[in-house]
Amino acid sequence: MITSKVPALLGGPPTFQPSLGFTRPAVPSYAELAPEFEDILNTGMLTKGPRLARLEKALQEHLGSPNVICVNSCTSGLILGIQSLQLTGEVIVPSFSFMATFHALRWNNLTPVFVDCNPYSLTIDLKAMEAAITPRTCAVMSAYVFGNPPDLDGLDALCKKHGLVHFCDSAHGIGTLIDGVPAGNHADFEVFSCSPTKLLTAAEGGVVSTRRPEIAEWIRSGRDYGNPGSYDCDFAGLNARMSEFHAAIMLAGLPRLESYVLARAHLVELYKQRLGHLPGLRFQEIRAGVRSSNKDFPIFIEAKAFGLHRDQLQKALLAEGIPTRAYFDPPGHQLTAYKQELDLPVTAQMCAEVICLPISSLMVDEEAERVCQCLLELHRQAPALAQAMPLG
Ligand SMILES: Cc1ncc(COP(=O)(O)O)c(C=O)c1O
Repeated sequence: MITSKVPALLGGPPTFQPSLGFTRPAVPSYAELAPEFEDILNTGMLTKGPRLARLEKALQEHLGSPNVICVNSCTSGLILGIQSLQLTGEVIVPSFSFMATFHALRWNNLTPVFVDCNPYSLTIDLKAMEAAITPRTCAVMSAYVFGNPPDLDGLDALCKKHGLVHFCDSAHGIGTLIDGVPAGNHADFEVFSCSPTKLLTAAEGGVVSTRRPEIAEWIRSGRDYGNPGSYDCDFAGLNARMSEFHAAIMLAGLPRLESYVLARAHLVELYKQRLGHLPGLRFQEIRAGVRSSNKDFPIFIEAKAFGLHRDQLQKALLAEGIPTRAYFDPPGHQLTAYKQELDLPVTAQMCAEVICLPISSLMVDEEAERVCQCLLELHRQAPALAQAMPLG
């Protein structure tokens, strides 16, 4: 319970002691993994072993996907998947995404053409995407945002119409369902991340899912230097293999994935019930038929109506021991590596308004309740706080 109604930035004690984590990885216990790790060490099959094969089969069944290839990160899966298409030219991509989305293009000598996102779903704006097509365009790269998928069917149809390939950065997508179909069954290929902040983690890892067997074959060889087994490589691949230790962690986590999705959906409901009435605060819109993984829980803060700018709120929450993330600020086209003078007004607005609150598959109601109480209190005291924190 909050003991003092005075926000920390106005001299009160912080709400959380010790600090609440922004997120917490859900991993199997050491006791559960110890026999697996022991077997890996005793057999000496540290990589390219039976657990990787079992994991790929289990994921294939779970996703209902014809081809699943596990790699050591989403980034390497994206790089190899794009490499398999042997593209040249420009790729249309939403600027409101994580840096690895763009890096995968750069590593393939492709030029990102940044476009705006939709202000409600936060995913790529299909009108902006179509307007950006030129004779140099070879592909569209879309991305899930916090678990919410882009309009994949719409994108697939538009890409077909214009003769473009479409691949998706589905880093946030594991656990998402689209009209009852698991993420991973759209576009030319999709890639999940299994890093610690994701619902299903391998500690580090990535999963490529594709309907196209030739893409799968390329990635299988490409994760092993491009060596098809003959020691004569066909192309310059990577070492992007997933070790047996990582595969064991993920294999043990997979049966729990559904419970993680449900736990997050419950927390999101709680957040929405407690915060939904606040002026100047709104939520990401998830279209009918979609069940988001809720990898993150974003809220949008409209400064004038709320009484505090997103940055002020973030600072005040942190002073209370509540860490948040302002994903994805700065957006792609403003990152130093990609800097371009572009007018993407929706992306600019989202970068100023969106803040992700703490969420994890292990978070308990009491923690979310306290985040809400704190946020409600900060909103009540917004005028004094705004004065104490002039915007730079
Ligand atoms: C949208 C997006 N794409 C790609 C990645 C990179 O994933 P990985 O760390 O598995 O390479 C992330 C990481 O969180 C991400 O958020």
